[in-house]
Amino acid sequence: MKILFVVSEVEDLVKTGGLADVAKSLPLALSELGHEVIIVMPYYQALADKFSAAECAPKQILFAENRPYEFALREINLAQLRVICVDYPAFFARKGLYSDDYHAYGDNAERFAFFAHAALKTAQAINFKPDIVHCNDWHTALTPYFLHIDDSGFFSKARSIFTIHNGAYQGTHRFADIPYLRLHYQLQNQLDGDALNFVRMGIRYANKINAVSPNYAQELLTPLGSHHLFYEFTQRQQDVSGILNGCDYSQWDPVSDPHIVERYDVDNFQGKAACKADLQREMALPIISSTPIIGMVCRLTEQKGFSFILPMLEHLMQHEMQLVIVGTGDPEISHFLHDLAKQHPAKLAFHEDFSVRKAHMIEAGSDFFLMPSLFEPCGLNQMYSLAFGTLPIVRAVGGLKDTVIDLAQQPEAATGFIFDQPDSASLLACVERALLFYFEYPEKFVATQKRAMHSRFTWQASAKEYEQLYIEALN
Ligand code: ADP
Ligand code: GLC
Repeated sequence: MKILFVVSEVEDLVKTGGLADVAKSLPLALSELGHEVIIVMPYYQALADKFSAAECAPKQILFAENRPYEFALREINLAQLRVICVDYPAFFARKGLYSDDYHAYGDNAERFAFFAHAALKTAQAINFKPDIVHCNDWHTALTPYFLHIDDSGFFSKARSIFTIHNGAYQGTHRFADIPYLRLHYQLQNQLDGDALNFVRMGIRYANKINAVSPNYAQELLTPLGSHHLFYEFTQRQQDVSGILNGCDYSQWDPVSDPHIVERYDVDNFQGKAACKADLQREMALPIISSTPIIGMVCRLTEQKGFSFILPMLEHLMQHEMQLVIVGTGDPEISHFLHDLAKQHPAKLAFHEDFSVRKAHMIEAGSDFFLMPSLFEPCGLNQMYSLAFGTLPIVRAVGGLKDTVIDLAQQPEAATGFIFDQPDSASLLACVERALLFYFEYPEKFVATQKRAMHSRFTWQASAKEYEQLYIEALN
């Protein structure tokens, strides 16, 4: 199949979160299955700085609001993948992808309405007639609509897939303030008051909709888990499914990881002890091998559970443990963590940083990985921590529930610790349960770590499920 993979960020090029991991790994796995995949993404300033990629086609023009939007197409090669970038500097030559310093750009709806359309124009420009147009999240959620109204004939056999990585971000904006769409009068009767909701359009116009884990797909079909799109999802229930993301074991494997001080494997944990000491050194914490380390690497945002994490931290500081957090995002959360770290320098280390090296050091050097999300469409970090024998402490939600097995529920199969209620008391009780297990049952603890390391979530398996979904869409 010819697959046009439309996305706003890609690992190794530009990244803000797990979407980028998927946007590299899934196309690679699909191409390994023999499909021809081309990625289309915006040409951000960060890409221009890093690659100064050559133009790969003549300039293109889209007309909207009776004015031309002229853009260039530039090609970057990523592993064996072709990545075609839409170069429209007025929209994309900016410091950030979606925001500057946590302030979202006011014209994001305009930027990504244009991009969603430009992606199709790109396929035409390079004469790539796709069978499947695979869209991802709100940034590209209007592409199925543009495909639907396209009358060029170029896309006559193409079918669209809309993958929801995070349904909370919907791209909602006053319709009148999106100049690119102003002449699309037919959209006016699909507004929410005076606002257009991009994700709603994706759900309405895509041939198939999928979420990045089976459990999140189920949640999207409930009033509480649907991010207020219950009606839209249930209308399309027959076409909604869940496919679990994979873990890129070529990047996240203690046997070969170039970012960690000493490599290790399931039969020899000596290296893990060295990684722990190295992490304590890096984070300026006392170097004590017997003290358990709880690690966190994430965007500092409500989604990750901070509304109930922050109130329990003071209590957690009374325990023998060290907590290591690396993340960027909401300034209120980072202020809180900086303050608390000053009060408990031997127990809490917080680095306000986006660092691939530190992410790997935490996965390898910690004993536990904390990911008690409020909601979590799939979550990749818990899979990475399983691969490193770092036991995840997670909430029973979204993809976390699909990937971690709780010690209390299935002692013989357990790979981590799970709790239910999104409140501080339940979280604290779960962390205490994990710490107790560490101190009281060291042998069982190691056995659980080994079991965790044997968990396997391969992209090959996920890609086969996507292949099946594409076939269903084409039929
Ligand atoms: P989400 O996409 O919701 O942020 P995921 O767990 O799916 O959550 O993926 C997050 C990805 O972003 C992982 O690859 C993780 O290592 C990376 N990441 C998040 N925050 C940071 C950070 N501060 N430094 C380095 N990598 C980070
Ligand atoms: C989103 C979700 C995360 C998921 C990632 C990749 O950012 O928050 O749960 O793993 O996308 O699909």
